[in-house]
Formats: sequence, C-alpha cells, structure tokens
Amino acid sequence: MLKIGLLGCGRIGQVHARSIGQIEGAMVTAVSDAFEEPARDLASRTNAKAMTSDDLIASADVDAVVIGTPTDTHFDLIHLAARAGKAIFCEKPVDMSADRIRDCIKVVEETGVPFMTGFNRRFDPNFANIHARIERGEIGNVEIVTILSRDPSPPPVSYIKTSGGIFRDMMIHDLDMACFLLGEEPISVYAVGSALVDPEIGKAGDVDTAAVTLTTGSGKICQISNSRRATYGYDQRIEVHGASGMLRAENMLESTVELATATGFRRAPAQHFFLERYEAAYLAEMKHFVGMIAAGGTLTPSIIDGLRAQVLADAAALSLETGVKIEINANSGS
Ligand SMILES: NC(=O)c1ccc[n+]([C@@H]2O[C@H](COP(=O)([O-])OP(=O)(O)OC[C@H]3O[C@@H](n4cnc5c(N)ncnc54)[C@H](O)[C@@H]3O)[C@@H](O)[C@H]2O)c1
Repeated sequence: MLKIGLLGCGRIGQVHARSIGQIEGAMVTAVSDAFEEPARDLASRTNAKAMTSDDLIASADVDAVVIGTPTDTHFDLIHLAARAGKAIFCEKPVDMSADRIRDCIKVVEETGVPFMTGFNRRFDPNFANIHARIERGEIGNVEIVTILSRDPSPPPVSYIKTSGGIFRDMMIHDLDMACFLLGEEPISVYAVGSALVDPEIGKAGDVDTAAVTLTTGSGKICQISNSRRATYGYDQRIEVHGASGMLRAENMLESTVELATATGFRRAPAQHFFLERYEAAYLAEMKHFVGMIAAGGTLTPSIIDGLRAQVLADAAALSLETGVKIEINANSGS
C-alpha cells in the first residue's frame, strides 16, 4: 500500500484526493494546507490526518507526496521531500524559472527519489490513443501537429498578474503535448500574441490570444493556438498529420445528443473546463504514479519534461517580446 501525503487541499489537491481514493494499492494518509479549514475538511473526507507540511514530509506514515500547492512553493517542498526520501508527484509547472527547475533536478538526482510532473493531458484517453497509434506507425512519420487549446473564459486580471503569463501558465500544457506527439525536441520557437479578449490583460503585460510555431531538428512542425475565451466551452482539440495518414481528437461535449431540424444540426457545448474535461486523465496519471512506484518502473512525464516545457514557454515569451524566432540550444531541456 502506497501511503500518500497531499500537500495543498485546493482545486487540484481535491482532484488528486478523489483519484487516490479510487486506486487500489494507494491511500491518502496525511494532508496539509496553509489554511486550517481546507486541510480539516479534506482530512475528514479521506480519513487522513491533517498536519503541517513539514510534519507531513517527515512522517513515517508517508511514502510519497503529491504537491498541489501554488507554483511558487513547489521548489522548497521538492527539496524537503527529496531529502526526506519521499517519491514526488508535482503539479505543473514545476517552477516558473528554468534555473530553479535545474536545481530541483539536482536534488532529485542526488537523492534518487522517483519524480513525476503533472502534465495530465498525456493521460487523456483520446490524446494517449493518438500517441500510441503514432508509436505503432499508423500514420507514418509525423510531419505537422496542430494543437487547439482555448479556455471558456479568462481568469481575473489579479490572477493574470501573478500567473507568469499565457505561455508559462496555460500554453505549458500544449508545449509538453507538442514534445509528446512530435517525438523530437523542438529547436526553434516563434510566437505571436494579442490582447483581444480583455484589454485589462494587455495592460497587465500579458496577451490572451497567442499562436506558437515550433520546429524540430528534422523539420517537423507544431502549431499551437491558445485563447483565454471560447464561447462554446473548453476547446481542446488535436490533429497530427503524418506521411501516411492523419489522427484527430475532437472536443468532448456535454452530451452526445444532437438536434436536427430544417434549420440544421445542433450539438451540445464542449465540456465546461479542465476539472470535468480531464477527469479521466487525472485518474490515469495518478494510477501511473502509484503503479510505477509499486513496479519500480520509470515515471513519465519526468522532471526533465517539466524543464523542457518551461524552456519552450520562456522562449515563446522572449519571441513575443522581441518579434524574432528563438533557437533552443541542444540539451537546454536537460
Ligand atoms: N494539471 C492541471 O490541470 C492543473 C490544474 C489546476 C492547477 N494546477 C497546478 O496546481 C497547483 C495548485 O493550483 P490550484 O488551482 O489547486 O490552487 P488552489 O489555490 O486552489 O490550491 C492551492 C492550495 O495550497 C495551499 N497552500 C499554499 N501554500 C501551501 C504550503 N506551503 N503547504 C500546503 N498547502 C499550501 C493553499 O492554501 C490552497 O488551499 C499550481 O501549481 C497549478 O499550476 C494544475
């Protein structure tokens, strides 16, 4: 039985608690939060003990930690947990700074603790199916990947101001997905962006509409389209074009019911946001974490994947700022 300590009892911490509750061979034994109430509440729902983060990490009743705290706390918690010899699942992004992630890699390598980065979208059943079929050669050599990723509505401007910007906060998932599907490291990044949804986002120094083009050493291309607004729900689609075919995953809709009348066909909106849309992915990623630790296997996405996506997000932000294509140094992701 893998005994898991949950750090952070907010939105994503509660999702992980629910997932762990469904996994044989794992249980939440301890929870912590910066505030008493969310910790007490989640402790009572999971039959776990509420304690401070320090006590949780030191507890003999905790084999692994799930870090679901705000991003700026990940660095310290990773260091503490690694030095305590605990396996670590850490939410994305590992940190907002690539250099600080490199520092985390050092402590993870020195201590040898298992580490997984929470890029949940790799575990979405449809996207995982696309990846598996690419690997099986069903569309031949991948040539061009298109990722469309749009939120239903923008977050408050107060959130935008501390988010690290659209590339590090939102597109980071898509940048990881690009690496996952291209099967090769991007070597160049070109970004454009505008504040079209809310001028206040522009005043806060960010954009709400962005497009990025990545190219790999062999010339494979990925185009990512992001918006902080989609009037029809959470828009999450992927298309991979290869030498001998194409694989495509459409949106998950609120229902499969379609109305047809003389005026045309009408379908339901896309599932509202990430909690619903990626419910299966959150469970599958946690199953992978628990299963691989039990089997002594390799955890993916790794902390190196966390760094690679961050390097690409930084490059996209720099490209937008400078208006030029940014070359990525070989090995910058490791
Ligand atoms: N993979 C995904 O789809 C996904 C989705 C949402 C959030 N996230 C990531 O998860 C992390 C948390 O995001 P959220 O939306 O759940 O935030 P949240 O604010 O809802 O929850 C974070 C919780 O952590 C607590 N906390 C703060 N410092 C702490 C500490 N040192 N020890 C213990 N608890 C502490 C806060 O009080 C809060 O309850 C962020 O890194 C975010 O980027 C990932």
